[in-house]
Amino acid sequence: MKILITGGAGFMGSNAVKYFLKNYPDIQIVNLDKLTYAGNLENLKEVENDFRYKFIKGDIADEKLVDEVVKDIDVIINYAAETHVDRSILDPKAFITTDVLGTYALLEAARKYNIKKYIQISTDEVFGSINNGKFTEESPFEPNSPYAASKAGGDHLCRSYFKTYGIPVIVTHSCNFFGPYQYPEKLIPLFITNLLENKKVPVYGDGQQVREWIFTEDHCRAIDAILQKGEIGEVYNIGTGNEIPNIEITKILLKKIGKDESSIDHVKDRPGHDRRYAIDSTKLRKLGWQPEVNFEQGIKQTVDWYEQNEQWWKRIKSGEYLEYYKKQYQV
Ligand code: NAD
Ligand code: DAU
Repeated sequence: MKILITGGAGFMGSNAVKYFLKNYPDIQIVNLDKLTYAGNLENLKEVENDFRYKFIKGDIADEKLVDEVVKDIDVIINYAAETHVDRSILDPKAFITTDVLGTYALLEAARKYNIKKYIQISTDEVFGSINNGKFTEESPFEPNSPYAASKAGGDHLCRSYFKTYGIPVIVTHSCNFFGPYQYPEKLIPLFITNLLENKKVPVYGDGQQVREWIFTEDHCRAIDAILQKGEIGEVYNIGTGNEIPNIEITKILLKKIGKDESSIDHVKDRPGHDRRYAIDSTKLRKLGWQPEVNFEQGIKQTVDWYEQNEQWWKRIKSGEYLEYYKKQYQV
């Protein structure tokens, strides 16, 4: 089977490339990634010489290139996206281009070349915020940030390509990812690396916003289950039940890194900040998937990884990594 993984140089995309190569000896993976600020080929060092793996630098919104790449592909898994909510508030355009028009270009190619399965990696944020209970796959979309709205746009296109053209699409809505190789702009890696640098951590508003967390390998296993057993035209929520308020996560990290609450900087809240995400993943669990890494194990592995891989995140935080990997990888 030949799989196109888009955004495979990013956080979860690179974990997925490594996961599939490790678990499927006969697989071939093509990684199409634009290498935005979030794409980093260092994440893929251990597989870069694997004969089953090929990297192509390019934009999923480039219709001509996508047509060329998809020609001999069996399955598309679309991880590529602009992903950071704060960046979408400052500058939404790239989000609309990649998350909506990029999805369109991939779906058009899937339509032309009889792709066997197209999996859209999406987010629980499309449902908006929920104070009580959980979102199901049938909950209406109520996106509150330009990021969430762009992802919702891509997801709606997926649904329409299934209904109108019969393209074998599956859409997934996951809760928040965490683990090694996450770009240090998201809550957990930003806070770990700030604390390791003896800097303060910026907690937005009252810190009582709740997110549900999934460790990298559990998300990879969920996508694997959906690839093997997921039904075409269906939507699957990916959730763990690990719901934790931001301030609690902050305190866990302070303790692990040996800091006290004087390292907290209470800053102005994010505009349109969603209060709580929680999703019902009963449907996915019926495929035989369940999370295997609890939050405590995952956070220990994550903190240990950032402690042991200073060079990776220091290069990113200093801005030096762009120059480094242009030279290293000639891209
Ligand atoms: P990331 O920001 O770490 O990486 C995104 C990758 O996509 C980068 O390698 C980047 O270079 C690439 N990319 C961006 N625009 C591109 C384009 N136009 N063409 C080709 N490549 C492009 O991403 P992540 O946080 O690992 O998220 C992966 C996917 O999962 C996204 O679709 C995101 O919406 C979704 N998601 C993320 C989370 C989360 O907590 N991070 C949760 C649920 C769903
Ligand atoms: O729910 C899935 C989504 O999770 C994904 O679709 C997004 O791609 C991903 O970025 C993430 O969005 P969040 O906004 O939940 O993640 P972020 O790490 O930016 O923030 C997590 C929570 O922490 C949120 O309530 C905002 C808060 N926060 C974040 C940062 C970066 C802070 O309090 N301070 C910060 O500096």
